[in-house]
Amino acid sequence: MSPRRFGVFAVGLLLCACGAVFHPTLQRDPTELRVDPGKDGFYWARDNEWSEESWAKIKPSTDLRWVKCYPGGFQCGRLLVPLDYNKPDEDSAAIALVRLPASVPTNSSEYLGPILFNPGGPGGSGVDFVLAVGVRFVSVVGSQFDIVGFDPRGVSRSTPRVSFYKTRIERELWAMSDVEELNHSSITVAGSWARNKITGALAVERDRNVLAHINTDHTARDMLRITEAHGREKLQYWGFSYGTVLGSTFAAMFPDKVHRLVIDGVVDVSDDYYTTKWTTNLRDTDNVLQWFFKDCHKAGPENCAFYEPSVKAMNIKLNDLYSSIIRSPVPAQTSGSYGLVDYARLRFTIFRAFYKPFAIWPMLATGLQDLVQGNGTALFNIQDLPRFQCSCDPLEHAFDNEGDVSTAIACNDGDSIPSDLEEAREHYREVLRVSEWGSIWAGIRMRCGGWSTDIPKTQFRGPIVGNTNHPLLLIGNTADPVTPLWAAHKVSSGFPGSVVLSQDSAGHSSISSPSVCTALAVREYFVNGTLPKAGTYCPIVGTPFVPNLDKSTIVPEVDSGSQTQIPFRQVMEGDGELLKALKELAREFRLGTTPLHV
Ligand SMILES: *[C@@H]1O[C@H](CO)[C@@H](O)[C@H](O)[C@H]1NC(C)=O
Ligand SMILES: *[C@@H]1O[C@H](CO)[C@@H](O)[C@H](O)[C@H]1NC(C)=O
Ligand SMILES: *[C@@H]1O[C@H](CO)[C@@H](O)[C@H](O)[C@H]1NC(C)=O
Ligand SMILES: *[C@@H]1O[C@H](CO)[C@@H](O)[C@H](O)[C@H]1NC(C)=O
Repeated sequence: MSPRRFGVFAVGLLLCACGAVFHPTLQRDPTELRVDPGKDGFYWARDNEWSEESWAKIKPSTDLRWVKCYPGGFQCGRLLVPLDYNKPDEDSAAIALVRLPASVPTNSSEYLGPILFNPGGPGGSGVDFVLAVGVRFVSVVGSQFDIVGFDPRGVSRSTPRVSFYKTRIERELWAMSDVEELNHSSITVAGSWARNKITGALAVERDRNVLAHINTDHTARDMLRITEAHGREKLQYWGFSYGTVLGSTFAAMFPDKVHRLVIDGVVDVSDDYYTTKWTTNLRDTDNVLQWFFKDCHKAGPENCAFYEPSVKAMNIKLNDLYSSIIRSPVPAQTSGSYGLVDYARLRFTIFRAFYKPFAIWPMLATGLQDLVQGNGTALFNIQDLPRFQCSCDPLEHAFDNEGDVSTAIACNDGDSIPSDLEEAREHYREVLRVSEWGSIWAGIRMRCGGWSTDIPKTQFRGPIVGNTNHPLLLIGNTADPVTPLWAAHKVSSGFPGSVVLSQDSAGHSSISSPSVCTALAVREYFVNGTLPKAGTYCPIVGTPFVPNLDKSTIVPEVDSGSQTQIPFRQVMEGDGELLKALKELAREFRLGTTPLHV
């Protein structure tokens, strides 16, 4: 199902005969990294060589020992936790962690402890996330915190891993016949439904007593263990997207263990996620497309290639483009690969761009306009991933982040759903009533139609409410493509004292647009515990097409309607560094896993 399927496989097939090594759980005997107690009481690897394979050499322990790993001051560790918390004396899991340690000694009064991050999915890698943007979070919250990323159980470098396939090539070949846009042809819904029967059967066939323990309940317990391994009793956390499911579930399970908890891009946890409905996510999505057109229109033809004299004209131009692409897909060739821009790819590319306005919208505008003129290269490039390459070394991709675990978490967490095609069609129609983009979204829930009903659902799955030790901070954007602001208010109502901060932007979660106001509110919350006033409405700086607005033109927009705008203050001279970090964050961040996630 990954966009990599657009690559070229014929050559790969011939070369990959060597790749048939089965190691889903990586149970090889690891050669440990040699470690010495360092001056701060941490442990450091003696040699400076670090590669992805080195993870296997860190010996997991219950007391969380850190070794120096990736360049940039990162430390890595593997924490031993029970695979099944109901049977803590039996098998173990090892949670992979990375952190940027605080700049102050842990025994000083300035040290404020670890903040755990989750980038959504389900199934996203927190290690990848912190490696990519952890340093930006230091700019936001301050260097008195450890910035901690972890791969949730089953994901990437945490073992045992979840894998439905014997080899990478097996997964890749199966993914090739998958289509994300269910309106691609008249049989795509039925075809996807049927595919999921096979995927679900493979998952069970290849399971080695791991799947039953891959769920949000257990990952919440792991977060408590990670906190305790830092010598702390209470959690500090910032979770995005699916990370809001994880964070709110933690808060409901352990209300006394909440010190600071930010959930950003909030999912309708109880009534949509845990019921496997996946129906309310798209309430604001159609609005995001209009936001794209409006921003483009305001930016003018010199800044936005897709510009037309009116928003209506842009809507018409896009619809004409759909019709044209359905009739004749456009071939595209880039330096890395080649393929077709067909209706499915066009739609998927636009949908994915909704998540990241500052990173992608100018490119999207150019890609669409070029496509109107018959050139698909720029649009193809937006989703272009490295061509699938075979590897004969089974360790080389041993810790890749695969989509399998995403299905496992979502389907284990949620209620079992009926497995018949007519019900799947009805769900498809229901999501389409919420948004035209339901034709892409409905495929997520459909994966659970093939999921085994033998896996028990005895873990905690709600209600997602709690009287927490410290109130939660929830954040929602005015036009988030997959986590509507409405859901933040809904989840907030289950947590007394919690506050919803709204950010006036399109895009997925607050970090998709630079807002000094939001960043300062988050910093204030983590450092001092202070919550913004209820009804706080934060402006962003610049627009996706004109990010470098002159400071004098930064006039926070007051939306008509019910929201009150109470910006903390105007952007000031001293905010330069923070603003720079926020702009980088908006460009670099990546939430979830490929290809679809919340
Ligand atoms: C903190 O620990 C370091 C190293 O163990 C020690 O030298 C220092 O005196 C300690 N500082 C405080 C304030 O306890
Ligand atoms: C599906 O595609 C057809 C064109 O083939 C289009 O007319 C129709 O509006 C699309 N339906 C949805 C729900 O997007
Ligand atoms: C298509 O666009 C690309 C830039 O995205 C450009 O390099 C290429 O020359 C164009 N092809 C044609 C045939 O104009
Ligand atoms: C936290 O509170 C202190 C004292 O009230 C204040 O000086 C400081 O600026 C606050 N820090 C942040 C990040 O808001």
